[in-house]
Amino acid sequence: MGIEEHRDWDSVDYTRLLSGDFFPPDFMWGVATASHQIEGGNTNNWSAFEPRSKSGQLSGDACDHWNRKEEDIQLIKNLNVSHYRFSIEWSRVEPQQGVWDEAAIQWYSDLVDQLHAKGIQPMATLHHFTHPLWWDEKGGFEKEDNVEDWIRFSVKMFEVLSDRVDWWCTINEPAVFASMGYVLGEFPPGERSFKKTRIVSTNLMIAHARCYQTLKSMEHGKRTQIGLVKNINLFDPYRRWNPLHRFQARLLDGMFNLCWIKGLMTGRFKAPSALRSKEIPGLKGSSDFIGVNYYTHLLATPFMPTKVDIDPLIRPWEERTDFRYPMYAEGLRRAFDMVSCLNLPIIVTENGVADDDDDMRPEHIRRHLQITGEAIADGMDIRGFYHWSLMDNFEWAEGYDQRFGLYHVDFKTKERTLKESGALYSEIVKAHRMPQVVILAGGLGTRLGERTKQMPKSLIEVSGKPILSHILDWTRTQGCMEALILTGHLGEQFDGFRHEGMALTFHQESEPLGTGGALWNARHLLQDRFILLWGDDLHPIDYGRLVAHHEQTSSPLTLTVTTKHDEMNLLHVDGKISQYDKSGSPPAEFNGYESGTSVVEKSVLLEHGKDGKWSWEETVYPNMSMKAIAHMDNTKFWDMGTPERLARLEEFLNKTSL
Ligand code: BGC
Repeated sequence: MGIEEHRDWDSVDYTRLLSGDFFPPDFMWGVATASHQIEGGNTNNWSAFEPRSKSGQLSGDACDHWNRKEEDIQLIKNLNVSHYRFSIEWSRVEPQQGVWDEAAIQWYSDLVDQLHAKGIQPMATLHHFTHPLWWDEKGGFEKEDNVEDWIRFSVKMFEVLSDRVDWWCTINEPAVFASMGYVLGEFPPGERSFKKTRIVSTNLMIAHARCYQTLKSMEHGKRTQIGLVKNINLFDPYRRWNPLHRFQARLLDGMFNLCWIKGLMTGRFKAPSALRSKEIPGLKGSSDFIGVNYYTHLLATPFMPTKVDIDPLIRPWEERTDFRYPMYAEGLRRAFDMVSCLNLPIIVTENGVADDDDDMRPEHIRRHLQITGEAIADGMDIRGFYHWSLMDNFEWAEGYDQRFGLYHVDFKTKERTLKESGALYSEIVKAHRMPQVVILAGGLGTRLGERTKQMPKSLIEVSGKPILSHILDWTRTQGCMEALILTGHLGEQFDGFRHEGMALTFHQESEPLGTGGALWNARHLLQDRFILLWGDDLHPIDYGRLVAHHEQTSSPLTLTVTTKHDEMNLLHVDGKISQYDKSGSPPAEFNGYESGTSVVEKSVLLEHGKDGKWSWEETVYPNMSMKAIAHMDNTKFWDMGTPERLARLEEFLNKTSL
């Protein structure tokens, strides 16, 4: 249960949230949604239940996301996030038992492609509270035999998407599904039965375990990360001195949190209110990560309301969210502590607040990210944070009255508007994310003999894989997640090229255009700031320091300069590049060599670029005398311009893993 801590938030210094180093460079920054809450036009267990729900509101066309997918992906992109969690609506994919709707499947496949094209990594959830009516009529999770239908659906989607989706959530919040549907009666099927709660809970765990084991054994199964999403709701005794309150808190904590976590840990599951635990085949170790959805704590007494619409007790200093439960960010740390016994990477798969006028959400975001950053600093393995939610949506039993979005949605016109909290979240994310990587990968090797006359040098294999893969390995360790690869005119040779954890975009030319021409033609794919690399050089430097230097000097262009090289090709004075000349016979005063990795503001390209064939470095560097910044770093860079250098690089890579 943990001790109920409270902080004086007024005295907390939030400056680290914008410092750029509070979160690791490869932290997964995301936003989350669920199909039924945003898509619109769904027919499933929820749409059937809605007329009987607390609010009586119908989901109807919701945010009409089904018809606005591209626009919404752009909204995600505008938040600067690297990841997006969505759920797949089973009732669309298999509207009747055994009948697959190929168009619906294609819709999700396109969603994934379009996310990748924007440099956003997808995370797919296979069950987020909804399922088809035909399955509901068969008894849904009330019957163990039904589980195989859901597994068949999961397998189908995994077959289609797992070549492009690395992150999978099996079931969203089994404890919420079971307790809201079968104890409180607020979710379908709206029952109040402890017996059914026990059965459904057990079947949810069986389904999760089977799903995990089945998907893991499939193609791409080993590569993908599959986990359960657990809502951690803390329960604290209203009066700590009162044994009845303590008893009640412990009881609820056991039923809502601990029994599920223990089940995952041991493989034996004791369903809420069950007397005995049951061995569930494949349950032990059935998660590669644990998804934590965290919203609040509840104060326990023996007389707690069993209806969500009666205000729960809160501490006098706490602030109520629109959902009436309090904002309690301190509890997120306790949720991390609670799941840490699983020894799994933790991902915050949901955290957010119902706040109609957005006056609480900015502070809610700051507090929860502060807690997350501190937990990481304390050594906890927290890999990511997904804000709930991308946009206001259909909040289940509460209908459209509870707004959780970073974007406001006008449910009549469907117009989306960024909220102040959305701007804040994107600013924090931006401060922590590495820019896009752009790789000039089309160059042919003039000095490598026959080998690369018809093959870009970046595809030459060194130590078992193309040099380009080694370069991407390095960019990934530095926290980069998206790369634009300029393939030159032989671009078809990159067909099928992939790199785990990176979203790749390729741009091909019809004729050789040089480095400048290739960049100019791809300008529509460039972000405002990018890291520019040569596709045949491996330059393992610290990107964090380079980007920070670029930022501090407000430079339009920062070049990495080494003084350890046999020849020099530039003169740097007071930290700036004064002259550049790569003709091979440099003036004696030249004192540095441009060693690759640079940070570029797109404005530089727009100012100096032109159509046709031209060289980036020979045009831009001389033109930017005393404007381009020198980032001094003597890390060795490896080029493979000659057979001897290629051999040395091979030797280096055989010894080192990046
Ligand atoms: C659910 C979401 C829901 C959110 C806010 C979570 O328990 O996964 O679907 O919208 O809470 O209540």
